[in-house]
Amino acid sequence: METIIVTGGAGYIGSHTIIELLNKTIFQIVSIDNFSNSSPDSYSRISALTTRPFETIQVDLCDHVLLNQKLSYYSNIIGIIHFAAFKSVSDSISDPIKYYHNNINSLNNILDFAKQQNVLNFIFSSSCSVYGNSKDLPVTENSPLQKAESPYGHTKQISEEIISFFCKTNPSFKTVLLRYFNPVGAHPSGKNGEFPINIPNNLVPIITQTAIGKNSLTVFGNDYNTRDGSCIRDYIHVCDIADAHLKALNYLIQHHEKKQCSLFNLGTGNGVSVLEAIKSFEKITNQKLHYKIGERRTGDVIAIYANNELAKTELNWIPQYNIDDMMLSAWKWENHLEEQNTK
Ligand code: WQD
Repeated sequence: METIIVTGGAGYIGSHTIIELLNKTIFQIVSIDNFSNSSPDSYSRISALTTRPFETIQVDLCDHVLLNQKLSYYSNIIGIIHFAAFKSVSDSISDPIKYYHNNINSLNNILDFAKQQNVLNFIFSSSCSVYGNSKDLPVTENSPLQKAESPYGHTKQISEEIISFFCKTNPSFKTVLLRYFNPVGAHPSGKNGEFPINIPNNLVPIITQTAIGKNSLTVFGNDYNTRDGSCIRDYIHVCDIADAHLKALNYLIQHHEKKQCSLFNLGTGNGVSVLEAIKSFEKITNQKLHYKIGERRTGDVIAIYANNELAKTELNWIPQYNIDDMMLSAWKWENHLEEQNTK
């Protein structure tokens, strides 16, 4: 059976993508995860939302020998979707070496495996943070990359370069680099979502945890040169991101003659400020959110949002969810977690 390897499959975006792959394709799915930023519970949530089995491997992608040993049992691997990486902008600033070691070595090892096993289709989880503080808004895939504002963003810039050079020496290898903007929200069922192992760094889980009484929200700066003083981002529903991966896989397999290395922005094209995101949450929950205004956070870009026309035309991908849908799904998930914790 044709097999797809999903690294980081127990993670937030990986688990949502596996759900779509199991429900909408016939590929055998093998998830690789070392649970450094996820939990095996993620696999139970996937199983509860799908009807097909999938395989799982627990290994650190930085362990080259063990990775190849564990993957040697699989043949007919027609594609790899590489999610596995550390992904927090703020965390990368406090521990840069952890990010350079993990994100770069894991990519090198999975690419080496792809070469050894002649896997020809590769989807890479990149990020809008490669653009840095772009003046070119909305950013297109051809917008110049500014200096990364964080080690996290820098690892994604380096990773894109590594893949590009790898393509040059492996002409049959085809890859799609997906530059995610800000993935947020949860599965519409409310039964899968972002599951921060530690205290979350990113905005939406902190908003929902604050609303449920488990956290407190500080808005990191309201004195930026934006319409309301808070930073602007392009929040994109995690299920829209998952759908884009299936369309990217189809693009690679069906149109193998296309460019060897294609880049796509995955954003809605709408910039939303932190204060506007809070207002959306208050609207859909009909409750006031308590927060305070604090200092700016090091590493934050002021504003970034996508021109997503290329993904629309080339991948036939259209984002389905707006900011209110994202907040509603995130809130439903937070309440599901609360119910589970109180059982
Ligand atoms: C968003 C905004 C904060 C927390 C994320 C991912 C990264 C990449 C890009 C995919 C910023 C503000 C946050 C808080 C706040 N995605 N904020 N108070 O930094 O844009 O990066 O998207 O690759 O992986 O981390 O996301 O949610 O941390 O911040 O005011 O308590 O919310 O200042 O303006 P970020 P974020």
